[in-house]
This record gives sequence, structure tokens and C-alpha cells, in this order.
Amino acid sequence: MSLARVLTRAQLGIEAPLVIVEVHLSAGLPSLSLVGLPETAVKESKDRVRSALLNSGFDFPAKRITINLAPADLPKEGGRYDLAIALGILAASGQVPEKSLEGHEFIGELTLGGELQPVPGVLPCALQSGKDNHVLVVPAANAGEASLCSSAECRAAGTLLEVTGYLHGQNRLAEVDSGRPAAVHFAEAADLADVRGQPQARRALEIAAAGGHNLLFIGPPGTGKTMLASRLPGILPPMEEEEALVAASVSSISGQATDWQEQWRVRPFRAPHHTASGVALVGGGATPKPGEISLAHAGVLFLDELPEYSRKVLDVLREPLESGRIVISRASRSITFPAQFQLIAAMNPCPCGYFGDPSGRCRCTAEQIRRYQGQTSGPLLDRIDLHVEVPPMPPALLQQAPPGESSAAVQQRVMAARQCQLDRQGCTNAGLSGNQRDEVCQLTADDQAWLMTAIEHLQLSARGFHRILKIARTIADLEGTQQTGRAHLMEALGYRTLDRYLQS
Ligand SMILES: Nc1ncnc2c1ncn2[C@@H]1O[C@H](COP(=O)(O)OP(=O)(O)O)[C@@H](O)[C@H]1O
Ligand SMILES: [Mg+2]
Repeated sequence: MSLARVLTRAQLGIEAPLVIVEVHLSAGLPSLSLVGLPETAVKESKDRVRSALLNSGFDFPAKRITINLAPADLPKEGGRYDLAIALGILAASGQVPEKSLEGHEFIGELTLGGELQPVPGVLPCALQSGKDNHVLVVPAANAGEASLCSSAECRAAGTLLEVTGYLHGQNRLAEVDSGRPAAVHFAEAADLADVRGQPQARRALEIAAAGGHNLLFIGPPGTGKTMLASRLPGILPPMEEEEALVAASVSSISGQATDWQEQWRVRPFRAPHHTASGVALVGGGATPKPGEISLAHAGVLFLDELPEYSRKVLDVLREPLESGRIVISRASRSITFPAQFQLIAAMNPCPCGYFGDPSGRCRCTAEQIRRYQGQTSGPLLDRIDLHVEVPPMPPALLQQAPPGESSAAVQQRVMAARQCQLDRQGCTNAGLSGNQRDEVCQLTADDQAWLMTAIEHLQLSARGFHRILKIARTIADLEGTQQTGRAHLMEALGYRTLDRYLQS
């Protein structure tokens, strides 16, 4: 047999489309040509595969070797195809039985010595090959990641020789068993019980969690804004399996080393610095990689010191905030990454940070304050449902305040309120579309009239009005009440303090 086929997988966003490696040996001057890979990748792959084969004791066929990776229009960068290419050459030259390749997929980079190196994106490959009922052979260093996929048969190998031994039926390859931890791991370090006082901010955090609303904390330094924000993942409902697999797939393709067991079903919390580039935040690059907003999928994106971020970068967030995904366009194709995150932002009330502090140390003028608050991207602020002030607490009071309620207790209420929303409308209140919102948040004629007067008085926009309805609905859900009432509306109005800046 001088023609062999080996199955492997490419990486396209969080998808892993099937790639067929065809290897053909023919008479002629010894040469190796690789069709379908960019030139630099071809050269590196050729060199690695040749050395790996020779160093593993195989013959490198003195023939004309033509290798084709099909389909032609898939991204084919990187060393992920090394193992499949090496096996293709071995099968075409009769050094492994071609029949043994059937029903298998292979992924992994080779070292010159023939060891298998880990590659990014193994989890999406495993999920897909499980659907196709194939056995997936992965590098041993990727076994932890592959173990998150319970629907595929994955086998781990450390070297090319282990793989060929397995194909000859001489040795076994350890089956990667589904090693998901049964319980969700919670970082004990971050519990809401640590936050003392700040009842209004805690309440807003609970509402944000319950309805999936975005939230902005405004307050001077040291009042616990960062502390509060980092505790949001711990009060959100536990992740569903599907969500967890998507989140893990994003980590997988980002190529960042992760403790898969520790991270499984833990909602991400990402806090990119305000100097982060647009690409770091939303994703991109020559070989598109997911950005912070995708790494925060199913979790929380925290933007501290919001006015410090460049407006241009913040404006890019608007689209994913609405759609829950980010599309990165390239000349040849566009790639979609998931980006369904909850946004928490924090900012000081003024340039010096101490506006409203009882010490009176703030000397910022009204104009400076307006400019500072106004420099934040208006369209982004407009997508943040809840604005809440986090006032300074005198140190003595902070000391005396008893520990707050634990995250576990708050999470119970959040879960109950979420369930109300899912049963009623199949999505969170934050995710309600216009028509759904009007249907779900119906007010009595009295309350409707009252709210209109309040809106007029506070000079809120139509958008602000809609946000108030949704927040009021979440407050009612936390209470377990069917009818959105006056008390809910009044509380909700209190969370739109920044609206006056949005209009100017
Ligand atoms: N309400 C609070 N309860 C307990 N500790 C607090 C509180 N507010 C501030 N602290 C303490 O002050 C430190 C700074 O808080 P941080 O959340 O970073 O403030 P901010 O982000 O508002 O500047 C925290 O690490 C914590 O030790
Ligand atoms: Mg902070």
C-alpha cells in the first residue's frame, strides 16, 4: 500500500473540524512535499517528523512523499498534525498496519526524539470525536484536559513508539477516564462573609447575580469594591455541564496552562488591567486567540477603574455584551468565540477618588467630576443595569461590623430567583427582549403612572426606563412575588444614579 489516510482535527474557534491527512509514496527522487500548510509550518513539521521517525528507529522511505491535508480551506497552523503525518508515512510504507488506523483520530506535536508534546484545543477535539464515535489518541500531557469529555474514548500516549506499539497490538494505551471532580471546588479565600457592612452594595451584587445584570460600583478607594466584585462568581448558580464544557473549551484553545480538575465548573473571574490592548480584551491576532471576554465566558469580567480604559476598547465590548459572542473577521474567514459574561465595573467618583468622603479632602471641582464620570464610554454605561455607590466606612465601624452573610446563603436565594425566571421566560431578566420584557414586567395602571412621573422628574431616558423595569422584576423574583410592585420599582430607581451623565 502506498497511499494512507489518517484522521486528525483542526482548530476553528471552539470547533474542531475533521482533517484527513493523505500520504502517497511514489517512485522518483526522494523528496517530501506537503500540500495545504503554510510554508513555515510545512518546513518545521517536515523536519520534526523526519527526525522523530528516524530517532524512533523507523525507516524514512527513500521515495517521493506527497502529503495532503484536506479540506484545503481549514486553518492548518502549528505542530498539531505531526503525529498524524508521521503515522501516515508509516502506514504508507507498511511500517504500521493501515487497518489499525481505522476509527481512530490522532493529535499531537512531535519532538525530534519522538516524544509527544501537548497542543492547544484538545478538549474541543475530544468532544467532536466522541460525536463521531472515534477513538482519539492524545499526548499524555493533554490527558487531564481530555478527561473532561465524558462522551469520547480518549487514549493517552507519551511517545510515537507507544502509539505504533498500540497499533501493532503490542502494548496498550492508557484510556483517559472521565476524571471530573464530583463536587464543585470553591476557593475558600473568597467568601462574601469577609465583606463587612456595605449593605447596599451587597444587595446590588445579589440582584446582579439573580437577574444576570451588569453592575457598576462607584466609590472611593479601599471601600471593598474589588472585594465585592471578586465574590460574584461564588454566588452565581453552579455551572451547567454544557456551559462548563464551553468555558473549558475556551481555556483549552487559549493554550493557557490550567489545573483542569480545580477549574472544572468554577465560574471564571477575569480582571484585565486597564492598559490591556483591544486584542487582549476581545481576542484576535494573526492566529486568532480568544480574549479576556471569552475567557470570562459563563463567568465574570471585572473592569476596575473603568474611566482609565480607552474608550475605543470599551466601545468594542458593546457588541459582545448584546450578542454573547465575538466574531473576529479575517480575510479568508471569520471565527466566532463565545463571550457570554457578566460585567462588573468599578470606578472612583472623581479624579482624586474622595468625592463624598466625610473627611472633606476632595478638592475636585464639579466640572472635573462631571468630566471624569462622563469620560467613560456612554454606550457601555448604558448597558450596565445597576449603578451603586459604595461609601467609605470609618475604620472603627468596619472593625465593629459583624461578618456578613456567607456566599452559600446568598447563592440559595440567587438560585431560587433564577429558577423563577427560567420557568417563566427561559432566560434571565437581563436577557429579556423588548416584547418579552413588556409582557413579563407588567405594572398596575397606578404604578405605571407613578413610574412615568418619577422618570420625568429624574429625567431618565427610555432605555433607563426599560432597565428599571427589568431590575424591578429581578427584585420581585428574589422576593418570590408575581406582580412587579411599587416597592420593587422604588428600589430599582435607586440603581440608576449615573443616568444623568448618560444624557449630557
Ligand atoms: N467592607 C469591607 N469589609 C471588609 N474589609 C474591607 C471592606 N472594605 C475594605 N476592606 C479591606 O480593604 C482592602 C481594600 O479593599 P478593596 O476591595 O481593594 O477596595 P476598593 O476596590 O474599593 O479600592 C480589602 O482587602 C479589605 O481588607
Ligand atoms: Mg479596587
